[in-house]
Amino acid sequence: MKPKFIAANWKMHKTFVEGYELAKEIIEHVATHYMPDIEVALFPPFIHLQAISKLLSCSQQLYLGAQNCHYEMDGPFTGEVSASMLASIDVKYVLVGHSERRHYFSEGNELIAKKIDAILKCGLQPIFCCGEVLEVREKGQQYDFIKGQLAQSLFHLTPHHIQQLKIAYEPVWAIGTGMTPSLVEVKDMQNEIRDILSVQYNSQLAEKASVLYGGSCNSKNIAGFVSIPGIDGTLIGGASLDFREFVNILGSLNIN
Ligand code: PGA
Repeated sequence: MKPKFIAANWKMHKTFVEGYELAKEIIEHVATHYMPDIEVALFPPFIHLQAISKLLSCSQQLYLGAQNCHYEMDGPFTGEVSASMLASIDVKYVLVGHSERRHYFSEGNELIAKKIDAILKCGLQPIFCCGEVLEVREKGQQYDFIKGQLAQSLFHLTPHHIQQLKIAYEPVWAIGTGMTPSLVEVKDMQNEIRDILSVQYNSQLAEKASVLYGGSCNSKNIAGFVSIPGIDGTLIGGASLDFREFVNILGSLNIN
């Protein structure tokens, strides 16, 4: 069984000292608790990345991710960070297409596609987030909507590149709200995502693809989401900011 991927997305939280302490506590916890079924990745704000990458260098099970990057490798883009810069400090993953970036920073599918190309070019792994707003689900149009997001941001990629990324289904209405889809709804959506990949690429690739769920996961509901066949892990926002809660999440997944 491949390990479940657990991503802690800290968003815009934690001062340098707070983030350093939290990362240290998590690293110590993981080092003293054998968790063969889980791979944990921390996605702190940029200011933490280098310090945490040094802390992580001795860890087998913990990885580092960034929450964003620019699509150019360098240039006059004040305030931005490139994928090549992230690659230079042992970042392994980069989130792309998160609904907060789509909503607050007007990032569209085409821009996201360019970011994915840059991330892959630098040898990093994109975590492509997709998800519908409530209105779309209420109209029953969620599958077409997700298909559109996948088509516009991923379909230019070769099968080889598709295999390097993870697809995170994160319904916008579930992010930070405490509302979650039912396990059946998540199962149906991951089936749909695999069907879309199967039609566009092939069934083997679709079967092997890494599909995650994200949106209001916590220590009470996480075991249900990761037990869904075809769900390879989760993205955790709010619940990853508190050490005890995060440890409870990991504990509820450590089935061996
Ligand atoms: P949440 O965020 O767990 O706070 O809902 C998830 C995410 O944004 O990835």
